[in-house]
Amino acid sequence: EKGGYEHFMLKEIHEQPRAIRDTYRGRLLRDEAIIKMAGVEDNMKKFLNANRIIIVACGTSWHAGLVAEYIFEEFSRIPVEVEYASEFRYRNPVITENDVVIAISQSGETADTLAAIKLAKSKGAFVFGVCNVVGSSIARETHAGAYTHAGPEIGVASTKAFTTQITVLTLIALRLARAKGTMSSSTFRMYLQELELIPQKVEQLLKVDEHVKDIARQYLLSTNCLYLGRGYNFPVALEGALKLKEISYIHAEGYPAAEMKHGPIALIDDRMPVIVIATSKGHYEKVVSNIQEIKSRKGKIIAVVTEGDTAVKEIADHVIEIPDCEEAFSPLLTTIPLQLLSYHIAVMRNCNVDQPRNLAKSVTVE
Ligand code: F6R
Repeated sequence: EKGGYEHFMLKEIHEQPRAIRDTYRGRLLRDEAIIKMAGVEDNMKKFLNANRIIIVACGTSWHAGLVAEYIFEEFSRIPVEVEYASEFRYRNPVITENDVVIAISQSGETADTLAAIKLAKSKGAFVFGVCNVVGSSIARETHAGAYTHAGPEIGVASTKAFTTQITVLTLIALRLARAKGTMSSSTFRMYLQELELIPQKVEQLLKVDEHVKDIARQYLLSTNCLYLGRGYNFPVALEGALKLKEISYIHAEGYPAAEMKHGPIALIDDRMPVIVIATSKGHYEKVVSNIQEIKSRKGKIIAVVTEGDTAVKEIADHVIEIPDCEEAFSPLLTTIPLQLLSYHIAVMRNCNVDQPRNLAKSVTVE
């Protein structure tokens, strides 16, 4: 059942090329240069008239929502707010009939997300679900939706659900960009082509496993860890930190790289590993100067860079290369080595990777 893998988590990490492909299959039609999603098409008016999109979710799904915020605003020019479902539902939020709420949930059973949906519906908002589990409570409670088609996710730590959520949300953003005219047809075509290349790039990237394992071996006794990223990869830093916390029980924090000097830099010494996402198209020079700041305080740098990088290689203690891609799609790649790093550290620390202590796969109580 684990398909030859030692844990479900590792199996699910390796399933991502297939899962991402299944997510866009039948929806991304490159030859015709269209994106076909019934749930979006049938409700196009709601999306086009939306004053804003409010994304509600918890945990890893909330991180996927943050990535989507950057993508929606860039591609479709619709203002997006991303909310923890648990905060949103108790805040007496301002919601109108011209708001579109997107609820993201792997299980489709998360109590807070479900309650947020009910609240938004009671205020007249149109609610769209992005779920993995077919027929789940959230899938039934929303007005329309799109499934991620990742297949069952058994490991408690979410992996393929995250990358497929980002894929679905990217498809929606691209579809709306065309409908709104915020993206030219040539740029749209280019993105369709680039998105179709992602699964094979993930496949290629998964070969870094042994290299990541070597890095994991050197940091398995760490007690703290910092994750930094900017732009599209800021949410990936948060997700990387969450993954390490939940399965290895090492304290970790994710930060937007530029926020480091507003506090967390005080934590840096020679026992602090700092994982920095420094892709070539994403505010690269600025991130490089953050890396220099960390290095001059003796922090240990594990950098995720684009193939062919030279500047970061000179300073970092370790580099993990990802294939070149459009920056907007880079979270689908940069996430992969961070999942592997957490996995290997947790295994080396003898943690129960698939069922970490105190956690449940779906949080059906608040
Ligand atoms: C982290 C993790 C949790 C879930 C969160 C939301 O790896 O699994 O943070 O992402 O409980 O769950 P869903 O997506 O099922 O609503």
